[in-house]
Amino acid sequence: MKIYNLFPLTVMQEKISIEESERKILINEIKKMKSSNYENKKNTYAWTGDTKGHEFLFSNILFKNLSLKISNTILEYLKQLEINTNLLDIYYQRSWATFTENDQKINFHTHSQSNISFAYYLLKPPGSGGIIFKSNELQNEIAKNIFTSSKLEKSLIKKPNAFNSDRSMFDLEQDTIIIFPSKTAHATAPNKSGLPRISISGDISIMLKDSKGFEHLMPNFNNWTKF
Ligand SMILES: [Fe+2]
Repeated sequence: MKIYNLFPLTVMQEKISIEESERKILINEIKKMKSSNYENKKNTYAWTGDTKGHEFLFSNILFKNLSLKISNTILEYLKQLEINTNLLDIYYQRSWATFTENDQKINFHTHSQSNISFAYYLLKPPGSGGIIFKSNELQNEIAKNIFTSSKLEKSLIKKPNAFNSDRSMFDLEQDTIIIFPSKTAHATAPNKSGLPRISISGDISIMLKDSKGFEHLMPNFNNWTKF
């Protein structure tokens, strides 16, 4: 017997190591950004720099070294998809930190304005919550809603796995990066560690260096006309 799993979603995980002294500096910088936003009560949701005026983290020189390391992993992700990066200009269009205190989480969302997104765990105590991916297109859904959680509770589905689930969670260690298509819905599980969790996220746009003969990918903005 042979099983083929066709048309997969590709999520890549990689380790990125930084010096502890650098981690300390970056954490302090992120805490400074967070404290610049007034919060009058404890929020259910994590602090996300992209919606708080801190969406260009990588233009901060302190994050230069980390952004270069992340760039290499993004190139590797594109390589796995057999995309010829020699033909592309690749940009961080925005980058930001998230700060999740105990019991906080982030609801499902997509980053529909970009191509590739990532999360790098700068500070990730055990139990501080994984990232959950969700699909609305279940290739194996042979009957409507057969894979919903209630079917699991009623033992119709014996065990969730990659072939019968509409969601999948990765609870990764500190210094891990996870890379995925920006259109993929994702959320974070609540932080139950009692300690803060800090991730660095970013959205990447790709565009053709030369769009001659191409129809669908974004032409280089050097050739755009502003009005
Ligand atoms: Fe996100």
